[in-house]
Amino acid sequence: MTDHIEIDRDGQVLIATLARTEKKNALTTAMYQALVEAFAQAGRDETIGAVLLRGKDGIFTAGNDIGDFLAAAGSMETSGGTLFIRALAAFEKPLIAAVDGPAIGIGTTLCFHCDLVYAAPGARFQMPFVNLGLVPEAGASLLAPQRFGYAKAAEFIMLAESFDAAAARDLGLVNAIVEPADLYAHALAKAQALAAKPRDALLATRRLLRGDPAILKARMDEELRLFGEAVRSPQARTAFMAFMQKKA
Ligand code: COA
Repeated sequence: MTDHIEIDRDGQVLIATLARTEKKNALTTAMYQALVEAFAQAGRDETIGAVLLRGKDGIFTAGNDIGDFLAAAGSMETSGGTLFIRALAAFEKPLIAAVDGPAIGIGTTLCFHCDLVYAAPGARFQMPFVNLGLVPEAGASLLAPQRFGYAKAAEFIMLAESFDAAAARDLGLVNAIVEPADLYAHALAKAQALAAKPRDALLATRRLLRGDPAILKARMDEELRLFGEAVRSPQARTAFMAFMQKKA
């Protein structure tokens, strides 16, 4: 278990808080495992109607822990990040994110899987996979062009440019920009509103909105195959070591 994920409950909403702020909420294997368990618990518990993901102290997440990328030795298929991504894509209840500060790598790509995303003005999104010698994950290579159009997807995934909350709202990744002091309460109120809807109708509607899950799964499988090769490449390892040694 880890203290870096805090699980709370408010009414019908399960709240998962990323709480490793000293490392900008970079996600470790233990944190992914705790999130997977939280999704499983929320899925099983009929009294839970929605899950809210949030960061802490003005930080959403700096993405996968780069030290963990360096240490990657076993199969990607069973890595914490992969299990989390699969749990995220398979989760059937509404997912809401409250984003402030950096939302890097999986911090951005997980937002594609959320039904509602609220961001503070200081939120900063980035998908720097290519810069690190990697490829996108969590279906972002499919979902980003669908959501943004190809031109913007290329800008954000190939050039790896970061974008702010206003751009994310204009592009349809973020529902609304909310002042930091109100962000959590606003996102929680929306989560409560979804959780209070007729459950079967809401879940069936969500499935319809998302389309064929097999298409997303096939793309995630292909991303994972390429990611597994890339993460061990000399280019990627050089980029990881540069970050860890602060030469990046
Ligand atoms: N993995 C591991 N450690 C990370 C991390 C990550 N993804 N992101 C931040 N950290 C650590 C830093 O190494 C540093 O540790 P230290 O205090 O022991 O030196 C601490 O978190 C604070 O980070 P720092 O870079 O000093 O903060 P900053 O405010 O200058 O910059 C970010 C914040 C998020 C912009 C920057 O940390 C960053 O770019 N992180 C990497 C993002 C990334 O490429 N993620 C992978 C996506 S696939």
